[in-house]
Amino acid sequence: MDLQRWLGRAVAAIEEWQEGFGPYQADPSLLISDERFAVAFGELTGRLRNNYPFFHPSYAGQMLKPPHPAAVAGYLAAMLINPNNHALDGGPATGQMEKEAVATLAAMFGLGTHLGHLTTSGTIANLEALYVARETHPGRGVAYSEEAHYTHARMCGLLGIEGTPVPADGAGRMDPGALDALLAGGRIGTVVATAGTTGLGAIDPVHEVLAVARRHGARVHVDAAYGGFFTLLAGQAGPAGLDPAPWRAIAGCDSVVVDPHKHGLQPYGCGAVLFKDPDVGRFYLHDSPYTYFTSDELHLGEISLECSRAGATAAALWLTLRLLPPVPDGLGRALAGCRRAALDWAALLSESGRLELYQPPELDIVCYYPVTPGAALSEIDDASVSMLAEGMKQDRPVFLSTLRVTSAGMSRRHPGITADRDGARILRSVLMKPEARGYVPELHARVERLAAGIAG
Ligand SMILES: Cc1ncc(COP(=O)(O)O)c(C=O)c1O
Repeated sequence: MDLQRWLGRAVAAIEEWQEGFGPYQADPSLLISDERFAVAFGELTGRLRNNYPFFHPSYAGQMLKPPHPAAVAGYLAAMLINPNNHALDGGPATGQMEKEAVATLAAMFGLGTHLGHLTTSGTIANLEALYVARETHPGRGVAYSEEAHYTHARMCGLLGIEGTPVPADGAGRMDPGALDALLAGGRIGTVVATAGTTGLGAIDPVHEVLAVARRHGARVHVDAAYGGFFTLLAGQAGPAGLDPAPWRAIAGCDSVVVDPHKHGLQPYGCGAVLFKDPDVGRFYLHDSPYTYFTSDELHLGEISLECSRAGATAAALWLTLRLLPPVPDGLGRALAGCRRAALDWAALLSESGRLELYQPPELDIVCYYPVTPGAALSEIDDASVSMLAEGMKQDRPVFLSTLRVTSAGMSRRHPGITADRDGARILRSVLMKPEARGYVPELHARVERLAAGIAG
C-alpha cells in the first residue's frame, strides 16, 4: 500500500467529517505559518535520523520494528479526532473497535468468554493481571521463572506481594518439578508462565505448569507479551510449526497478556490483558463523577486501571486485524517467516567455526557467541561487546544486541567453557521482521567477519 496516498486520504476523510459540523474559526493563538513549520519540522526530521534502522534486516538487535503502514494510517485517521477510550463518552467508535479487537485476540488464544482491554504496554497489562491475582488469592505470593521479564518482580514489589523465582531448565523454560516443590509450601497463590521469554525466546511448558498449579489450587497467568502471536504456528505443518501443547493450554489459564506493539505490527502504546473469568471485573469497580453517563454499556475505563487511553490505538489494531487477521494464513505467515529466519540462521551458526549457537531458537530470537582462543567467559564477554560496537561502526552497519547469561547457564549448555567469571554477555538477535529470512546468509557472513576481526 502507498502510505503517502493513504495518509492524505486519512486527513481528507476526517476533514470531510469535520466540515459537516459547520464552519468555525481556529484561535489565532494556535496558528503557525507554513514557513515557520517548515523550519521546525526540518529540525525534527533531521534529529530523527539519529536512530537505528529498525525497519531494515541489517537491524538484528532488540525487539523493535516500525508498525505496519495500515496501522499508521488507522492511527493517524483516529488520532485527528483524538478519542479517549476510557469511556464511551470519549470514544464511542474506537471503544467499540477495542472490544472487537480484544475479542479477536481472545479467539486467537481459544478463550470463549473473556474480559479484557488494551493497555499502554505489556508492563501495565501484567500489572493488571497480577493486581487481579492478588485480589483472588489474597496474602499469597506469585511465582515466575528466573527467566521471566523483570517486570514481574517489580510489579510484585509495587503490589506488596511476595515474588519468588522458579529455576529454569537447560533450555531456559520453567522447571515444573521445581515449581511443584515450591507450591507444596502453600505460600504461592499465582504462577506466571512465560510464552516466549524476552532473553532467549523460550516457551515455558504452560500445560505442565497449569497442571501443577491446579493441583495446588493456584491461579495461572501467562505472559505472552512477546511470544503470544506465535500461537498462530501451534500445530502447523512444516518447519515453522510449534508444539501445540503449551499454546493450547493458554485457553485453560486464568489470564494472558499479549503485546500487539511487539508482534502485532502496532506502534508503541498497545498491550492487552485478557481474563478468562469476566467476573473479575468486580475488582475494578469504581465510580466516576465525570464520565460513564452516555450509555449503560460497559465503559472500558470501568475494567481498566488506566484512565485516558488513545482510541487511535484501538483503531490502528482493529484496521490491521481486519487486513491481516490473526489466523495461520493471515498474520501467521509473517510469524512463520520470522521463525524460519531464526531456524535458518541457527543452521548456519551450528556449522560455523567462528560463532557458536547458545541454544536452538524456539521462536525468532537467536543467541550466539564468538568462539575465542581460551574458551573463557571473560573472553566471550569482551568479544561480544566489541562485536556489538564494531558492527555499528561499519560503513554499512549491522546492529546486534547482547544478553547477559550466568556461568551456570553457560556451563549447562556448553560445559567446555571456562567459568572465570560469574557470567558473560553473549550476542542476541531478534529476527522479528519476516524480511529477515532473505537476509540471513548476508547477516551471517557479516557477523562472522565481525568475529574474525575481533579475533584479529
Ligand atoms: C515477556 C515480556 N513481558 C513483558 C514485557 C514488557 O512489555 P512492555 O515493554 O510493553 O512494557 C516484555 C518486553 O519485552 C516481554 O518480552
